[in-house]
Amino acid sequence: MSVKIIGTGSALPEKIVTNDDLAQLVETSDEWIRERTGIGSRHISTGETVVSLAARAGERALENAGRTAADVQLLLLATAAPETGIPCAACQVQSILGAAGAVAFDLNAACAGFLFALHTACAYIEAGIYENALVVGSEVLSKIVDWTDRSTCVLFGDGAGAAYVERCDEPGILGFVQHSDGTKGEVLQCGGRQLSNPYISLPQEPSFVKMDGREVFAFAVRQVPACIQELLGRIGLETGDVDLYVLHQANRRIVEGIARRLAVAEDRFPMNLDRVGNMSSAAIPVLLDELNRAGRLRAGMTLVLSGFGAGLTYGACALRW
Ligand code: ACO
Repeated sequence: MSVKIIGTGSALPEKIVTNDDLAQLVETSDEWIRERTGIGSRHISTGETVVSLAARAGERALENAGRTAADVQLLLLATAAPETGIPCAACQVQSILGAAGAVAFDLNAACAGFLFALHTACAYIEAGIYENALVVGSEVLSKIVDWTDRSTCVLFGDGAGAAYVERCDEPGILGFVQHSDGTKGEVLQCGGRQLSNPYISLPQEPSFVKMDGREVFAFAVRQVPACIQELLGRIGLETGDVDLYVLHQANRRIVEGIARRLAVAEDRFPMNLDRVGNMSSAAIPVLLDELNRAGRLRAGMTLVLSGFGAGLTYGACALRW
């Protein structure tokens, strides 16, 4: 028995914001952003929400899989930026899709969120609790980004991606590795609501994404290759056995650094961050969907997915397409 991805979908906001557009807002340039990050433009919400994007991506994944919302037994939504604390975004997506029979809940592991949600879905399916799951990563980071901070506002984009997975008899997911390091939480953070009740009230200041870019960079190029090696060792594969490495799209230089450390040719690392920026938990499923719809994923191919980000959280998953 295995668990297989049998459908993918994605959704991006209509509005495209180029580096030149950002140069109208903060002191930056297309040249600086492209050289340091590889990003050329990103989609930014002018009304689309985590929920609306997730619902569209989920609908497309179901269509792609040839399934309907009524089939879905588990709906997991990874996000770091839900519109509401309660109800959770997953339950709102359940309502929009009409997935009445699904159990739905959110999961936050920042940029590793989709991967952690996929692992959670597989664990439920392998335990025999559910037969299938719709796993979504959706972010509208533009509402938690400080649009006066040039060191962060140029990096992120909004969007959602989804994968529909099912229990099956042919090889699918081959293995997972996950790690967290809460001692390094300060390198990338965004505050929530402060304590306020009749007995205490802390200042309620709006909080935005704050990042130590160099620390994030060093963490990613050090830990992600080690994590991928750990995964491949565990399932008895070599780096050369992997057809495509579908990594979190934080930054071109991070992806190139990881490829170098693994001694794998860069053409095995597809990228779309030049068009979409860093979409946190949505990055991996959006890229996967683009590859799927472009016909670049053939049956029998071996893929490694790897997500990494705030927490710190990071992990990798190997699968047979
Ligand atoms: N435009 C122009 N200049 C800028 C910009 C900008 N958008 N942002 C920062 N600078 C300036 C800084 O102010 C600084 O100027 P100074 O020397 O006068 O003080 C100079 O550029 C260098 O700044 P650094 O922060 O040292 O630049 P660095 O080369 O480290 O690049 C970057 C910054 C791109 C953020 C890099 O650290 C990086 O790629 N980090 C990884 C972070 C990342 O990808 N985060 C995504 C979220 S986390 C995740 O998804 C895993």
